Amino acid sequence: MAIPGPGYSITMRIQAPPSAGAAGDLTTAVGRAGGVITAFDVVESTAQRMVVDLSANAQSGPHADEIRAAVDALPDVHVRKVSDRTFLVHLGGKIEIASKVPLRNRDDLSRAYTPGVARVCQAIAENPDDARSLTIKRNTVAVVTDGTAVLGLGNLGPAAALPVMEGKAALFKKFAGVDAWPVCLDTTDTEEIIRTVQLIAPVYGGINLEDIAAPRCFEIESRLRDLLDIPVFHDDQHGTAIVVSGALRNALRVVGKDISDCRIVVSGVGAAGNAIIRLLLHQNPADIIAVDIEGCVHRDRPGMDRNLAEVAAATNKAAVTGTLAQAVRGADVFIGVSAPNILKAEDVATMADDAIVFALANPDPEIDPLAAQAHAAVVATGRSDFPNQINNVLAFPGVFRGLLDAQARDITDAMLLAAADAIANVVSPEQLNASFIVPSVFDDRVAKAVAAAVAGAATRQGVAGDPVDERTQTAAVGETV
Ligand SMILES: NC(=O)c1ccc[n+]([C@@H]2O[C@H](COP(=O)([O-])OP(=O)(O)OC[C@H]3O[C@@H](n4cnc5c(N)ncnc54)[C@H](O)[C@@H]3O)[C@@H](O)[C@H]2O)c1
Repeated sequence: MAIPGPGYSITMRIQAPPSAGAAGDLTTAVGRAGGVITAFDVVESTAQRMVVDLSANAQSGPHADEIRAAVDALPDVHVRKVSDRTFLVHLGGKIEIASKVPLRNRDDLSRAYTPGVARVCQAIAENPDDARSLTIKRNTVAVVTDGTAVLGLGNLGPAAALPVMEGKAALFKKFAGVDAWPVCLDTTDTEEIIRTVQLIAPVYGGINLEDIAAPRCFEIESRLRDLLDIPVFHDDQHGTAIVVSGALRNALRVVGKDISDCRIVVSGVGAAGNAIIRLLLHQNPADIIAVDIEGCVHRDRPGMDRNLAEVAAATNKAAVTGTLAQAVRGADVFIGVSAPNILKAEDVATMADDAIVFALANPDPEIDPLAAQAHAAVVATGRSDFPNQINNVLAFPGVFRGLLDAQARDITDAMLLAAADAIANVVSPEQLNASFIVPSVFDDRVAKAVAAAVAGAATRQGVAGDPVDERTQTAAVGETV
């Protein structure tokens, strides 16, 4: 059952009698209706009445309506207005552009804009690589979507996807100092998306693809990687794969197993499942069995598309067929990126001793984590109200920080694995236990560790750019002296 949380948080402006018991009546009414009070502020007080702002967390929109009705039903109490605090956060958008340079007088203008800027333009025209040091390209990422797979809500279109992309941009800035900008495209045509991203690429040091539905997302990413000289990263695929790999590494430490001895079942072979399987294969598990809505993926299964055929060719050595329940029998690890409530507690009971269950379907996991805990040694979900939250924010800010710092032109699987190891290693041996296999998203060591690991791997892989051009650096120093 959902519990009241800040995602459904309301503030009610309430007029009440100035009696001694009025405040108690209000808070009792909210509590009885199942709301959790987070603030109580008196905004007006006279001998005749009291006006208060009462903030409370609810479980859902309809539950918030019930809380309001419970307060309104009190004698001589009137709810004047209800504000949805989540909507208030989004009013006018969540990010803005700020100038980094002073624009106080004519001198400032002449340097930041014309005529001074002309010399900088000419320098870049002579040496296009200078754009990486003399423009926002150095620190800016495009967050590109077509709005076809927004959160778990499906195809909402580009405008409705914008609040998510703005949020992503805010996280990029907060956790890694990366300037990210939402680019919501009004097309679902693969060729148009590829061409449009290619046309806007000069401004950006990296492309973060977001919430683009499978299987189109695979072709868009792979074609853009070939076309562009900046890294292209689909977070729903690789961000998830990085965090899952890091979490699995620590979960295996907790149960004392080596991945090379483990049979891993991956439920869901969409954007997330495909990338997870690909990254796990680099780590040489004993076997992986992929399962989708039609059952186990195996070489003889008819009607598979190219992605599924590639997965089938690289997995399921034991040629297991049938249902998810059949696949998990004896398995060491279950990773779900598929659909809610498709794994039963009795299925987990048939897994190997010290089983690991990552049930990541959002918002409702493949199995209730409490039911899974009855038979598994380590359980993780995508939810913030259980331990071991597998959250992509552990990966993407640091990944792009590292890519931008290294001026990387590409991103490789070795860099994704380095990021996964970095996340795992932020959890010290003393901290590690079954309820703490990944660090907190607010641990500021995470993005720094991931960035350093990605930048180091970029250099080792030969995809890092040249160090900042000495000529432009000298010019910049000369200006400030
Ligand atoms: N960090 C996280 O917690 C995290 C990250 C990424 C995705 N997810 C969740 O994973 C799920 C999948 O995301 P995606 O982007 O890969 O979606 P997707 O639509 O690309 O793929 C969904 C896959 O699940 C399979 N599937 C659907 N119903 C199934 C069923 N009843 N039994 C078995 N397989 C079934 C489909 O065949 C498909 O292979 C979503 O719920 C998403 O929210 C969580």
